[in-house]
Amino acid sequence: SNPGSAFPGPKTDGFSKSGFILAAIGSSVGLGNMWKFPYITGKYGGAAFFLLFIICLIVVGLPILLAEMAIGRGGRGNAASSLFNITGKKQWKWVGAISVVTSFLIMSYYGVVAGWTLHYTVGSFSGALNKPGTDYSATFTAFAGGYMPLFWQAVVMLITGVIIAKGISGGIEKFNKVLIPGFLIILVILMIRALTLPGAAAGVEFFLAPDFSKLSAASALTALGHAFFSLSLGMGCMLTYGSYVQKDQSLGKATLAIGAGDLIYAFIAGMIIFPTIFSYGMKPEAGVGLAFMALPAAFAQMPFGFLFGGLFFLLLAIAALTSCVSILEVPVAYAMGEWKWSRKKAAVIVSVASFIIGVPAALSVGGVLSFITFADKSIFDLFDFVTSYILMPVGGLIVTIFTGYAWKRAGDEVGLSGWWYRIWMFLIRYIAPILIILIFLYSVGLLNL
Ligand code: PFF
Repeated sequence: SNPGSAFPGPKTDGFSKSGFILAAIGSSVGLGNMWKFPYITGKYGGAAFFLLFIICLIVVGLPILLAEMAIGRGGRGNAASSLFNITGKKQWKWVGAISVVTSFLIMSYYGVVAGWTLHYTVGSFSGALNKPGTDYSATFTAFAGGYMPLFWQAVVMLITGVIIAKGISGGIEKFNKVLIPGFLIILVILMIRALTLPGAAAGVEFFLAPDFSKLSAASALTALGHAFFSLSLGMGCMLTYGSYVQKDQSLGKATLAIGAGDLIYAFIAGMIIFPTIFSYGMKPEAGVGLAFMALPAAFAQMPFGFLFGGLFFLLLAIAALTSCVSILEVPVAYAMGEWKWSRKKAAVIVSVASFIIGVPAALSVGGVLSFITFADKSIFDLFDFVTSYILMPVGGLIVTIFTGYAWKRAGDEVGLSGWWYRIWMFLIRYIAPILIILIFLYSVGLLNL
């Protein structure tokens, strides 16, 4: 469609308008909101942290989300070639390729946690995980430390690979359209259940009554890092999805819809987890084990706990799988574009490779490889730390620099005008990069707060 330019023609497979919004919400709404968000909220100051997260989402997350989608649609390529197609400069392709590596690393450990949710779904519904009086911390430790997680991780990679092999409209879009309505129903049931538990109010209060004395620079920077993870930014995901969006779809509206979807889900996740935890006399600071240790113990004591527990983990599994497909699409689109692999071949090879890279992560959570540590971090924690707090912010920084300084006609693609455009450009050029550099320095220990 652009004769003589570096731009390839329009893609033949793509999203419908509603399909794109659903798939992008499916990507952002994931394990992050239920598995990471509650424990960092518990650790860094409850409601005050939630407010910071909202600010980071709006001031840094949404402008970058819009920029990423615009780069994908404007460049019509993968996470690497889109930047090259827009500027015609080879260097940008290498810079963009960093995010393909990031997506690969995230896929490998995220697939492990997604596998845990499947195991817990089956275990809860079958009643195996619903015996009052059991020490659920020990149950989780024994499970995660064994070999069973590998089986479930393989199931996750199989499902993800099959969906990706079916393509955008027939695979990713359909998958999200089927799963998200069921997801919403389960979400509402669980919220009502949690809020009507005896003593739920203490949990709601913890989540909603801000105590600003608990805030620190560390909590601000954690909130920013989580905003990236939560919106699936800085690793080419929204960029790759954006490359399948029609030219007449409003990216501004899509940004607001995705941001609202993610935020509402984070809010409801808090409204499920904190009342449940408080109602059964547990502490919100439980750490990573909150979802897999504290909650099963709560469900075991609840009437019909097998049902509510089963629904809870099913919810997590759906959230995880719709995010997994978006992560895997990044390297698959790259392999198709750069190496001319067919979609099927790319889907098979990339999912098998992600599984293999994920094996050491899976076996390091109390398992045979947990003796390997880097600065006190297991392989699993290292993957999470390096991607969430280093590679994703770096990817976000690249997007802001590319959009703010290298791409002369970004405004045409994002479709904002007047003040909206000026505010967006100001955030992209100045505010977002400065804040990202701060988190980065803090995360690698060069900035002591
Ligand atoms: N946004 C997802 C979550 O919050 O769980 C995680 C994620 C998905 C990160 C897709 C990155 C990504 F590309």
